[in-house]
Amino acid sequence: MAVNMKGKSLISIHDLTEEEVWQIFDQTTALKLKVLSGEPHPVLKGKTLGMIFSKPSTRTRISFEVGIYQLGGIGMYFGPNDLQLNRGETISDTAKVLSRYLDGIMIRTFSHQDVIDLARYGSIPVINGLTDLLHPCQVLTDLYTIYEKRRKLKGLKLAYIGDGNNMAHSLLHGCAKVGMDVFISSPSGYTPDAQIIKNANKDAAYHGSKVVITQDPVEAVKDADIVYTDVWASMGQEKEAQERKVAFAKFQVNDELVKHAKPDYLFMHCLPAHRGEEVSAEVIDGPNSVVFDEAENRMHVQKAIMSLVM
Ligand code: CP
Ligand code: NVA
Repeated sequence: MAVNMKGKSLISIHDLTEEEVWQIFDQTTALKLKVLSGEPHPVLKGKTLGMIFSKPSTRTRISFEVGIYQLGGIGMYFGPNDLQLNRGETISDTAKVLSRYLDGIMIRTFSHQDVIDLARYGSIPVINGLTDLLHPCQVLTDLYTIYEKRRKLKGLKLAYIGDGNNMAHSLLHGCAKVGMDVFISSPSGYTPDAQIIKNANKDAAYHGSKVVITQDPVEAVKDADIVYTDVWASMGQEKEAQERKVAFAKFQVNDELVKHAKPDYLFMHCLPAHRGEEVSAEVIDGPNSVVFDEAENRMHVQKAIMSLVM
C-alpha cells in the first residue's frame, strides 16, 4: 500500500521507513520509464523548487534543476552569495519567508543543523542535497542503482573504503535500512560518527544484517558485491588535503584490493573522483565500474522524491 509522503522533508535516510525507501524506488522506475519512452510527466506542473548551494556541485545542481523541469516545475538556484543568509539573516526567518513563495527547498550546505532548522521553521518540504554529515539523495540513488543491476538488496555486501564522512554515514544508514551488510574501512582518526554506527546497528539487527568497522581494507572488500569509495578530502577540508593523502595512502581502491571482492563486484563512487588517490584509473574506468549509471540515476531518484513530497 502506498505511504503518503506529501509534505515530508528528506534530511536523513535514517528518518525514512523501509516502505518509504521502496516507494521512492518504485516511483523512480515509473518516472525513469517515462523519460525513456519520451512520455511527458508534468506531475509538479507550476511548482517551484528553491535550490540553495553553499558548496559547489555538478551532479546535484543539474540533476535537480533538469528533474524539476521535466516534472513541469521550475528550479531556482541560489549560490553562496545570493541570499541574505550570508549577511546574517537567520535560518528561521529565511525558512518562514521561503515557505511563502516556494513549494520545496533543496539545500547543500556545511552545517547539518541548518538543514534540520530550515525544515523545522519552514512549512514546505526540505531535501538535503549534502551536508558535512550526510548525503542521503546520493545513497538512495546508489541503492537504487544496485537494485537495478542485481534485482535485490537484502543480503548483499557493500564495502566502503576511505573517509568516515557524509558518504560513509549515509551508506551506513541506507544499507542497514534495507538489510545489506556494510563494511567501512577507514584509517584510525577518520572513522564514522559513533551515533550513526549505533543507529545503523539497530536497523541492521532488525534485518539480521551486519555493520562492521575495520581498519583492514582487505577484510572489508573480501567477497564484497559492491566496492565504494569517496574523496579523501571533502568540500571544506581542502586545507587538510596533504595530511589526508598520507593518512589514507593504504586505503586506495585499486586492482590489487578489488581482487578480494566477488568477480562481478560493482565499483561505485559518488563523484567527483581523484584518479590516483582514493581510486586507481583501472578500477574507476574498468568494466565493473557503474559510476555514470549512478550519476544518471541521481536525476531519476530525486524526481521520485520531489514528486512524492512536494
Ligand atoms: N555526487 C555529488 O553530489 O556530486 P556534486 O558534488 O557534483 O553535486
Ligand atoms: N564527501 C564529498 C562528497 C561529494 C559529493 C564531499 O562532501 O565533498
